[in-house]
Amino acid sequence: MSDDIPVLEVAGLTAGYGRSQVLFGVDLTAPKTGAVALLGRNGAGKSTLLKTLIGELSPMGGIIKFDSVDTRKESTEKRVRRGMGYVPQEQGIFSTLTVQENLTLGAITQTDHIGIDMVLDFFPKLAERLDQQAGTLSGGERKMLAIGRALLSRPSLLLLDEPTEGVWVGVIEEIASRLELLAREISIVIVEQHVELALRIANYAYVMDRGGIALEGPSAQVQRDPELLRYLAP
Ligand SMILES: Nc1ncnc2c1ncn2[C@@H]1O[C@H](COP(=O)(O)OP(=O)(O)OP(=O)(O)O)[C@@H](O)[C@H]1O
Ligand SMILES: [Mg+2]
Repeated sequence: MSDDIPVLEVAGLTAGYGRSQVLFGVDLTAPKTGAVALLGRNGAGKSTLLKTLIGELSPMGGIIKFDSVDTRKESTEKRVRRGMGYVPQEQGIFSTLTVQENLTLGAITQTDHIGIDMVLDFFPKLAERLDQQAGTLSGGERKMLAIGRALLSRPSLLLLDEPTEGVWVGVIEEIASRLELLAREISIVIVEQHVELALRIANYAYVMDRGGIALEGPSAQVQRDPELLRYLAP
């Protein structure tokens, strides 16, 4: 497939919870490699958008194309098999299981030692904590484990919902540098409250406001845009 076809194409996407509509016609694309940032104040609809993309929520209308295939009606499991990975804003790990058990469960097969070794190389801190219960990990280690689990399904597109939330500032940089490396290989859509960090990792940014895209452009351009602060202000 040609490189200039986006891995993800979203058009006119509407979704919500029951009768309460949250997304009002979202248009967004993500290229085959590189990161796209998704910014916006609390409640703008960022997590709702990711949940709709992975299939936890059914869209009311609009288009979701992954690798040029319409995935709107497919189960989350099918989307993951196609190559979508998702790290939710909350948890994404089993707190009562050990790090090792969490990784084994995330692997495609029980014997995916290559995948697990790859994750431990990627996040060496996890290798020191294999027998520790996931619920007792630090905020940063938990996020690393959640990202690591998602990587085990070998995604070509990773949807990341606030990968540095609740992470000590000293570890944020460590996670960010890994994501920068990852974005050279695959496509990442990253929701992030640390705007400067997100705009550094991502080449392109979308700013959401009240369930729609209010502002978008190359990261450097969005960073300079006087409207940006208005959309991020509480
Ligand atoms: N399960 C739910 N049921 C009903 N409404 C919900 C549900 N989850 C979220 N909402 C509402 O949808 C809107 C968008 O929420 P969403 O979680 O997508 O925002 P967000 O941009 O991710 O915010 P944050 O930055 O705080 O994570 C909010 O008004 C929220 O109250
Ligand atoms: Mg959210």
